[in-house]
Amino acid sequence: MKKNENIALEFNEFSKNYTNDMIGCAPHYLQLVESFVKYFPENFNPGSVLDLGCGNGNISSQLVPYFPNATYTLVDASTEMINLCRHKFKDHNFIYHNNYFKDFSFNKDSYDLIVAGFSLHHLEDKEKQSIFKDIYSSLKQGGIFSYSDLMISKTNPEHPKILEEWHSFVNISFPDGEKWKWIMEHYDAFDKPTDYNIQIEWMKNAGFDDIQILYNQGYWIYLQAVK
Ligand SMILES: C[S@@+](CC[C@H](N)C(=O)[O-])C[C@H]1O[C@@H](n2cnc3c(N)ncnc32)[C@H](O)[C@@H]1O
Repeated sequence: MKKNENIALEFNEFSKNYTNDMIGCAPHYLQLVESFVKYFPENFNPGSVLDLGCGNGNISSQLVPYFPNATYTLVDASTEMINLCRHKFKDHNFIYHNNYFKDFSFNKDSYDLIVAGFSLHHLEDKEKQSIFKDIYSSLKQGGIFSYSDLMISKTNPEHPKILEEWHSFVNISFPDGEKWKWIMEHYDAFDKPTDYNIQIEWMKNAGFDDIQILYNQGYWIYLQAVK
């Protein structure tokens, strides 16, 4: 795959074989996706869900069987990803926003659950701090922010080791090295992961005080923050 000039075009291209590519390219992808339905408090039953960076809908797909009556709002910069969701969820009355997060209106006290699967590492540090504030404000009291990603800064001394482990993982499914080369080009151009402890501080600054890491394999993490 060739590198594109912006994130929306990059993911239009990536959308073609997205789930298989993610399973082979992102360590622990399936376990992290499953985490989105494994760790909610008993009796948690959201009526409104916002999926930030929905991609082809893998996170919302997990949620729908558990929360079939909720209203789902899906946001993604990539038109192709949004189109895949429109097709996948054609029997549901979902709301779609083909927007960058910075252009999405985070209305106050609007959602019981906000999910972000592997989407916020595309944001600069300043944008992450700002979106945590938007997410906090947009959740209803008692609402949950549910978030998974690679959460290590590129300057972290452990980063080279994580890259080595990641490379070995990708080699299992794609031994010819082409995929790893593409991943590293994509990673250099579009991925800006941040250490989880820094992000947790930013979430606290945004107002969250109940934040729990519920699944982690190295720096591949799923966490929940309650408003
Ligand atoms: C790696 S995919 C994750 C998709 C899905 N949530 C999952 O867990 O498989 C990241 C998605 O976030 C979207 N995205 C990245 N940065 C974005 C931004 N600033 N605004 C809106 N969408 C963005 C991309 O277009 C892409 O579809």
